[in-house]
Amino acid sequence: HAQKTDKFMGEIVNYDESTVPAYTLPEILLTTKGERVKNTSIWEKKRRPELLALFEEHVYGKTPGSFDSLKFIVTNEKADAMQGKAHLKEIKITAWNKGNLVSFPVVLFIPNNRKKPAPVFLLINNRSNRNTDPTRAEKSTFWPAELMIDSGYAIAAFHHGDVAPDRKDSYQNGVLAHLFPAELEKDNGMKAIGVWAWAASRVMDYFKTDKEIDFNKVALVGHSRGGKTALWAAAQDQRFAMVFSSCSGSTGASLARRKYGETISLINKQFGYWFNNNYKKYSNDVNSLPVDQHMLIGLIAPRPVYTTNATEDRWADPYGSFLSLENAKPVYDLYGKKVALPKDMPAVNSPIINSAMGYHFREGKHDLNVYDWTNFIHFAKLHF
Ligand code: GCU
Repeated sequence: HAQKTDKFMGEIVNYDESTVPAYTLPEILLTTKGERVKNTSIWEKKRRPELLALFEEHVYGKTPGSFDSLKFIVTNEKADAMQGKAHLKEIKITAWNKGNLVSFPVVLFIPNNRKKPAPVFLLINNRSNRNTDPTRAEKSTFWPAELMIDSGYAIAAFHHGDVAPDRKDSYQNGVLAHLFPAELEKDNGMKAIGVWAWAASRVMDYFKTDKEIDFNKVALVGHSRGGKTALWAAAQDQRFAMVFSSCSGSTGASLARRKYGETISLINKQFGYWFNNNYKKYSNDVNSLPVDQHMLIGLIAPRPVYTTNATEDRWADPYGSFLSLENAKPVYDLYGKKVALPKDMPAVNSPIINSAMGYHFREGKHDLNVYDWTNFIHFAKLHF
């Protein structure tokens, strides 16, 4: 019998569907000046930029538009990795700004059995970097590289902590302090999630230079805080052709206005360093937030997006995450994309694949596992 409330950090956490207070979402297809968004042209010229700016200003912070230069070095390579099935490349990405630099490693396996450049899945790895072991001495279900190679996909990863440490007392000690110190002074300056998303775009820059990779078929994957980041990265950088966001919860795929599981107040208390300073204003006033998370999904349209939840992860508000998709559908409709979401929450372990917005609610824990990746492959086979 599941508990209906919990207490955490001095707050009552609600897990009772029947006590979720009523809320009104800001309208996705209405500009702040009150203009109806009736077609993709108004969406792209007015509403999309407006929503991006609102998320920058009030939630994730503004990503600096430029820096001085970027360099890629292949630091290790193995043409016959995985018993000859894959080409391993370890790449060091270095970015410079105003005389300072930051480097971070990327690991990439490309299938050898192919005739064309390979589509690729890039994971923002927010767990141990042993999950992405280039030697394959350790194998992890969090990044099942062999499965992806056998399915015809390249698979890549970088570790989020290499660009912004995932700690409230040291998140600055990476890209922020070295490349963009001025951001730390601003209330709308990017913080950890902004930096992780920025780094995903730098890996995208690298893919553009690698002839073995199909640059038009780059799927971004993230779990939890990495899943929040994947959505934000793809919202900003339209070069990502597809997004998979696993159990991303609050300030990811789940609606902020639903009082269920983690709230803005709770996430700001524990993980304030992920979001800009302005976001703190909404801790006790979520209804005044000019956006909600369905709009983040809308910013990904018309590109295919897939989100997941797990039965034992009520903290991430699975239903609120499904509702986000449903409320972003009008944007996909503008583009004439087929969205086949059921009217209500899908049954457990019943993935929705044949739809530009995919979703599954799987059995089990807050995690990214082989069940998830297998459905991501099915989705990619259909939509790439
Ligand atoms: C915490 C946090 C979540 C986050 C999760 C994770 O539980 O409250 O918002 O998604 O960590 O990243 O695993």
